Amino acid sequence: MAKAKVAVLISGRGSNLQSLIEAAAKEDYPAEITLVVSNRPKAAGLKRAAAAGIRQEVIDHKDFTSREDFDTAVTQCLKMAEVDYVCLAGFMRILTPEFVTEWRGRLINIHPSLLPAFRGLHVHERMIDAGVKVAGCTVHFVSSEMDAGPIIGQSAIPVVPGETAETLAGRILEREHELYPACLRLVAENRARLSGGTVSYDADVETTGVVHAPAP
Ligand code: GAR
Repeated sequence: MAKAKVAVLISGRGSNLQSLIEAAAKEDYPAEITLVVSNRPKAAGLKRAAAAGIRQEVIDHKDFTSREDFDTAVTQCLKMAEVDYVCLAGFMRILTPEFVTEWRGRLINIHPSLLPAFRGLHVHERMIDAGVKVAGCTVHFVSSEMDAGPIIGQSAIPVVPGETAETLAGRILEREHELYPACLRLVAENRARLSGGTVSYDADVETTGVVHAPAP
C-alpha cells in the first residue's frame, strides 16, 4: 500500500519531528514525512529536516498581516505538496477555525499533558505547582480550541519525589517520542479515525487502561 504523505509543522527544537522522521525511516512504517514547515526561520528543527533530506518551507508569520492570511499560505503550501496528514510538533501558533475545518480528521497535535488538563503554555511548571501525581502526554486530532480535540493516544508517567519542571519535561518528552509515531501509525493505517466527537479504533487496537501507547 502507498505510504501516507505527512507534513510536520514546527516552531522550534523539533525533537518530535526527529522521532517521526526516525519512525518513518523504517520500511514497514505506513507514512513518510514529505514536508516540514516552520513559522520561524531559525527553528532548530529545520536542520533536522535538512539532515534527513526532507523538503523544508519557512512561512514566517511575521510576513503576514492577519492570522487568516498566514493560515491560507500554509494550506496552499500543504495542498501543493499533496499531503494526506498534517502533524503539529511544537508548532506554537493558534490556528484559525477555517484551517482546522480544512484539515479536520487529518490534523494531529502532541501536547505534554494528559488533556484536557493543562492546555496551553508553561505546562510542566503548572503541573508541579498543582502537585499532580500523574503526568504524561496526549496525541489528538485538532479542534478549533487550542490543545483540544478527540484523543488518539495518551501516555502516563508518575510524578516522582523531588521532581522539577525540567526533570518532568524531560521524562514526558521521552514518552512523546514514543507516542507520536505510534499514533500517527494508527491514523495512517486508518486503524484510528475521527468519528463524530471521538476517535474510533479497529477492534484489534489496544485501548484499555489509562496508558494507551501502542508500540510504533
Ligand atoms: C513538545 O513538548 C510538545 O509536546 C509541545 O512543545 C514541545 C515541542 O518540542 N507542544 C505544545 O506544548 C503544544 N501546545 P519539540 O520541538 O522538541 O518537538
